[in-house]
Formats: sequence, C-alpha cells, structure tokens
Amino acid sequence: MEMFDRGDFGLTSRINLRDIDSNFVIELKRTIYKEKLVVFKQQNLTPAEFVAFGKKMGVVEKYYEDMYHHKEHEEIFVSSNRHTKQEVVGVPRTGKFWHSDYAFMPSPFAFTITFPQVVPKLNRGTYFIDMAEVYEALSDDLKQQIAGSSSIHSVRKRFKIRPKDIYQPIGAILDEIDRSTPPVVHPTVVTHPITGEKILYISEGFTMGINPSENIKNPNQLLHQLLQESGQLDDTFQHPHIKLLNIEEGDLLLWDNRRFIHHAKHSGVFEPSETYRLTVYDDHEFSATNAA
Ligand SMILES: [Fe+2]
Repeated sequence: MEMFDRGDFGLTSRINLRDIDSNFVIELKRTIYKEKLVVFKQQNLTPAEFVAFGKKMGVVEKYYEDMYHHKEHEEIFVSSNRHTKQEVVGVPRTGKFWHSDYAFMPSPFAFTITFPQVVPKLNRGTYFIDMAEVYEALSDDLKQQIAGSSSIHSVRKRFKIRPKDIYQPIGAILDEIDRSTPPVVHPTVVTHPITGEKILYISEGFTMGINPSENIKNPNQLLHQLLQESGQLDDTFQHPHIKLLNIEEGDLLLWDNRRFIHHAKHSGVFEPSETYRLTVYDDHEFSATNAA
C-alpha cells in the first residue's frame, strides 16, 4: 500500500495513526515539509491517542489561554459551539480570519494538527493560502522593498473576551493583553529552515504593521498591497491563491504552519461544530537565521 496519495490539495493517507512507528514519523515530517499538508482519512483516535500522536511529531505546547483547553487533556485546543446551560465546551467561532497559528508569539509553531470531532453539514472546510507561493509571485520591486524588513504582530484585534472579562473596562483588558502577549517582531520574509523557501509572513488577523525602512516609504500602503496580492482581502474567497480543503468526518489534518495561513469556514446558519487542535514545535528555528 502507498503511504500517501495525491489529493486535490496536499496528500491523503489511510494509515491508522494509532499504529505508526518512529520511521513513519520521520517520513511524515519529511512529507509535510515537501508537500505542506496531509489529510489522514477515517481516523478514530481517542483524545489521549490524539495527544500521543502529537507528541510523536514534536513538542506539543498547550495554548496560553486555558478557556480553550480540553477538560482532561489540556494540550488539546477545543473550538466548539456545543454549549449548553449545563456545560461549556471550548470556544466557539475560532479562527474565522486569515492567520498562521501563534504568529503573535515570539516562537510560532512548526505544525498544526486538527481533528474535527463534529463536522457541520454546510460550509465544512478550511481555506488555505500558501505564503511561499505568494512570495514567489510578488514583483521584483515588492520583493526588494520587503527584503530585510520586519513586521509587528499582535493578538490584540482577535483576542476573544473571556467569561471573567465581563463588566471589566475595555482598557483594562487591552492592558492585560499587552502585558501577557506584547507585540512581537518577525521578519516580513521568513526563510523555511528545512526547504530554504522564502515565505511572506504577514496575515490580516495578526500583522499590525511593517516597520519603516529605507526601502519602505509608506508601510501602511505596502501592508495593504501585500494583503491584497496574497488574496487575504478577497471576501468572496475566489482569489487564485486561496484553496479550500473540504473536510469529512474522520479526517485528521496536519500542515506546515510556517508557510500556510488559514481561515476557518464557519456556516452562516447555526450547526453543531467541534474541532480538536494540537500545535507542535519541531527541532528547528521558526525562520532560518539568515532570513532576508
Ligand atoms: Fe488557526
């Protein structure tokens, strides 16, 4: 049996992730760096087995805000709208904006692994943009302008108000965000430490601005242009850089968080929906240190 088949987008595999050995993990990491995204079909891991799989891929980091944590396995981030008066499960409507996971932190993750538990009937799926492809397609003039520049990222715009924040002044909440997650600076062009590819590292969700430099006269206009050229300002999702991955029950997705930005596709109509997520560091720096 072939380990991986070519899907419409990325690779697919029917290997049962409960049965993998360390050789498979090495092969899988190599595949992710090369092919960017793998969908494992018909998986039925328990939450504990899902965490065990994540730990085979690298160092699993639990999310910094605990309201997202799975009740028994705090490494699992739970996106869910399955709330009742008796029980709150995870946080609803997460990730409905273009972003790469933890871009607002000093060390973003290598891999994102998602495992939908309840898949909505309408509008199922996630949008992706490959920011290495976007960088490649930029004009030489734009590439020159952003070479060696840096950008500022923050969770400020996207921070979700927690139950304990109700009746707090907005200024106090903003001060706390700035204290616990101060804005971070990353190269505008990240160099992938394994493939050496250059990746335009900006997102509509988390990038607050590009730092001015000799080559950058109007940083706001430049950021707007880069967001536009990457397809992130297209709210019809028809831009050629945007790919939609449709999700089926039993799918487990694993992708390269350095090069993809993603955007959840939530239904406009209420439907039950729940997804588990793990975020994993590999053994490499987020960006090669000679990043341009
Ligand atoms: Fe995300």
